[in-house]
Amino acid sequence: MPAAGKSPLTRLNNGIDMPVFGVGTLAMTTFQAADLVNFALRNGYRLIDTAKNYGVEKEVGAGIVRSGVPRSEIFITTKLWIEDYGYDEALRAFDRSISALGVEYLDLYLLHWPVPSDFGKTIAAYKALEKLYADKRIRAIGVSNFQADHLKRLMDSTDIVPALNQIELHPYLSQKHGRQANEQHGIKTESWSPIGGVFVNLPKEWTRPVRLLEDAAIVDLAQKHRKTAAQIVLRWHNQQGRIVIPKSQHYERLLANIDIFDFKLSADEMAAIDALNRDLRGGPDPGSFDIPAFRALAARRQVRVY
Ligand SMILES: NC(=O)c1ccc[n+]([C@@H]2O[C@H](COP(=O)([O-])OP(=O)(O)OC[C@H]3O[C@@H](n4cnc5c(N)ncnc54)[C@H](OP(=O)(O)O)[C@@H]3O)[C@@H](O)[C@H]2O)c1
Repeated sequence: MPAAGKSPLTRLNNGIDMPVFGVGTLAMTTFQAADLVNFALRNGYRLIDTAKNYGVEKEVGAGIVRSGVPRSEIFITTKLWIEDYGYDEALRAFDRSISALGVEYLDLYLLHWPVPSDFGKTIAAYKALEKLYADKRIRAIGVSNFQADHLKRLMDSTDIVPALNQIELHPYLSQKHGRQANEQHGIKTESWSPIGGVFVNLPKEWTRPVRLLEDAAIVDLAQKHRKTAAQIVLRWHNQQGRIVIPKSQHYERLLANIDIFDFKLSADEMAAIDALNRDLRGGPDPGSFDIPAFRALAARRQVRVY
């Protein structure tokens, strides 16, 4: 049972509790990740979000050991990469992930993206997650980047309703329909790039920089509440019931980001942030993401993405 640390807990649809605030590990280097995870855990974080595709599962595991925080108090999420979809492939990839992390079970295992062009393999992979869940090797299973039609297709062919759907969500992409689809099925929404980090890796065709944390509406609220812009945005997610996993490679930001439980945004302030939505997607479109699209993206940006 994970202890809350500095974060409140929320209950998933299978009855297990999960911290609502955690740390992301995308774009942490293999040199940094163990140290940052150790620091986060020693300073009240209890939820860690990683993925096979981020290339740091081993370092995340090392950071957990170094922190001295008992495994039972930590909620670990990792994700099955799309190149490992299919039933047997998924079972093997799970073994590799828990071995890299150095743990015996996962708290949450997610399908990283739907692959609409070969949805049969997406379903087969989820069936493998159901088997691992039945075998008590995962405490909850879920998905990431699934849109309403993907959820429907998945649930039409499988038995367990996902506990959670992790989607790109920040004030410039507030995902009204995505949130509604999740809510309708009792699926928790978890926001990736919650403070707009995805805009750091701008697609080449975007000529103007997009900096959510410099938006005047956010900066004004930060000044008013004597909080940082990131804290304002993270509090907005929290008050709307979402789980967040902001990433930082800076200790002071890791400390500050989770310090959002001592103030409240008013209804008008929440509405002002809601009004910033531009349906501006920074990451790939889940409607057409597949292995060739991912490889092209990764080659273009020369970084490990998503
Ligand atoms: N499921 C998916 O497909 C998917 C896709 C993307 C991400 N994710 C997960 O979601 C996590 C979070 O998303 P993300 O890393 O893309 O974006 P994010 O957490 O919204 O933003 C991270 C960026 O914001 C900066 N930052 C962090 N705290 C800050 C602060 N207080 N003030 C100013 N800047 C700050 C970070 O820089 P510094 O590091 O230099 O501080 C980094 O550039 C990932 O790490 C990953 O675990 C999942």
